[in-house]
Amino acid sequence: MTVESLSVFPGVFDPYLSASIMGRAQAKGIFSFRAHDLRDWTHDRHRTVDDAPFGGGQGMLMKPAPIFEAVRDIASEGPRPHVVFFTPCGEPFTQRVAERLSAEERILFVCGRYEGMDERAYSLADECLSLGDYVLTGGELAALVVTDAVVRLLPGALGDEMSPVDESFSTAGLLEYAQYTRPATYEGLSVPDVLLSGDHAAVDAWRRKSAVERTARWRPDLLAAAELSDEERDLARRLMGQDARGDC
Ligand code: ADE
Repeated sequence: MTVESLSVFPGVFDPYLSASIMGRAQAKGIFSFRAHDLRDWTHDRHRTVDDAPFGGGQGMLMKPAPIFEAVRDIASEGPRPHVVFFTPCGEPFTQRVAERLSAEERILFVCGRYEGMDERAYSLADECLSLGDYVLTGGELAALVVTDAVVRLLPGALGDEMSPVDESFSTAGLLEYAQYTRPATYEGLSVPDVLLSGDHAAVDAWRRKSAVERTARWRPDLLAAAELSDEERDLARRLMGQDARGDC
């Protein structure tokens, strides 16, 4: 997979994407990343990418021309990229969206800055994504978050092919179960006995219950779409609304 960004801060991506799992995935050829500088598509001495909004109002908007020219030039360089714009008005980014994007051969993330973009620029987008109901100063962090969530789904990126299966927001629609490592008791807090028992069926059952309990406590909104047995749904109903303190 090829991932590209278009922004006025092309230097912010590499420090994160060259470290740890993302860095290894690049070194292994699982994905490649290229940051484009939007100012390369300006034609004035000051390399201007923004202008005042028609109709007045505070702040500056990103001009349409550099974005149109850049997206068209970048797209013409290889296979047609899937073009994603970041804006708080976009579709909320979820694990499902990450799974869908992980099938793309080439993705171009267009990152807004300032107070927003000239609305016409969004006509270039195949889709618009939002990281959540809050406002960032720009789309660069959103592009990094989405790149991370997508790349880790690519075969070989995590080293262990099974690891994405059990985790939060995967197919069963539940949060991930609680996990523990050594020591078995720490500051008077003990690991559940069943996890030390060596009984794999009992461990699986405990993990499933833990996932249902945690989802009921922390993200009850996910339960409607989760695949639960009648017994699990009863358990979830009993737990919903109870004191949310405890394990995270
Ligand atoms: N740009 C500014 N805020 C954003 C958000 N919440 N999600 C994606 N892009 C953004």
